[in-house]
Amino acid sequence: MIPTPHIEVTDKSLFAKTVLMPGDPLRAKWVAEKYLTDVKLINTVRNMLAFTGYYKGKKVTVMGSGMGMPTIGIYSYELFKFYDVENIIRVGSCGAYTDKVNLYDVIIATSAFSESTYASTAFGYQENILKPSDELVNKLHQAAKNLNIPTVDGIIHSSDVFYRHHGNVFTDVRDKFGCIAVEMESFALFANAKYLNKNAACILTVSDSLVTNEATSAKERQESFNKMIEIALEAAIMD
Ligand code: HPA
Repeated sequence: MIPTPHIEVTDKSLFAKTVLMPGDPLRAKWVAEKYLTDVKLINTVRNMLAFTGYYKGKKVTVMGSGMGMPTIGIYSYELFKFYDVENIIRVGSCGAYTDKVNLYDVIIATSAFSESTYASTAFGYQENILKPSDELVNKLHQAAKNLNIPTVDGIIHSSDVFYRHHGNVFTDVRDKFGCIAVEMESFALFANAKYLNKNAACILTVSDSLVTNEATSAKERQESFNKMIEIALEAAIMD
C-alpha cells in the first residue's frame, strides 16, 4: 500500500488492531519500552512515533496523537481508514473541573462535550456531545476492576483552547454540561470512530486542577500514568 500523508507505514499488518494513543510521542516510546516485547518503531514522520510490540503475547501499537483535535483527528482517521485499526484508546491527562475529582485520579470518559466545529465540519454531525464505544468502555472498567485500581466515570470537556481567559473560563461548561475534567482530543477521536464505524475510548489521569490550581509532581504523575496505562493495555488484549 502507499503510505498516508502523515504515516510512512506501507504494510498494514505492522499496526495492531488496537492502538493506545498518548498525546506525547515520547510517552508512546516510554510505554513501548516499559511494557511491550519485540518492539518495532514503525513511524517517525514528524516524530509522531509509533511502536508495535506484544503485551502478554498479544500485538498492541502505541502511537503519539499530538495535542488537540486537529492533530488527533488526522492520525486517528488515517489509522481507522487506511490501516484497518479497529480500536483506539486515548491515554492522556486532564485538568479537574470539580473538587470531586482529585489529582492523580484515573477517569474513564463516558462522553465528550465540545464546542469544537470538528464533527460538524468533518461529517455534518450536529451533536456537541459524542460517546465512546460501550464495548471498549466496558473493557476498561473490567480491566480496572481486575487490577483493583479505582476509576471515576464522567463527561469530559474536549476544549480547543488551553489558555482560556474569556467568560467564566470553565464553570460555564462544568455547570451546563456536567463536565468533570478538561482535555483537548477525545471529541474528534469519537467523531472519527462514529463516522468510520470503529471503536474509541478515553482514559485520563488528572494532572492539574482548575478549581484549586494545584499541579502534580513528576514522580506521582508517572505512577498514576502507569496505572492508567496498565488498565488500557489489559483492556486492549481482552477478548
Ligand atoms: N486543559 C486542557 N487540557 C489539559 C489540561 C488542562 O488544564 N490538563 C491536562 N490536559
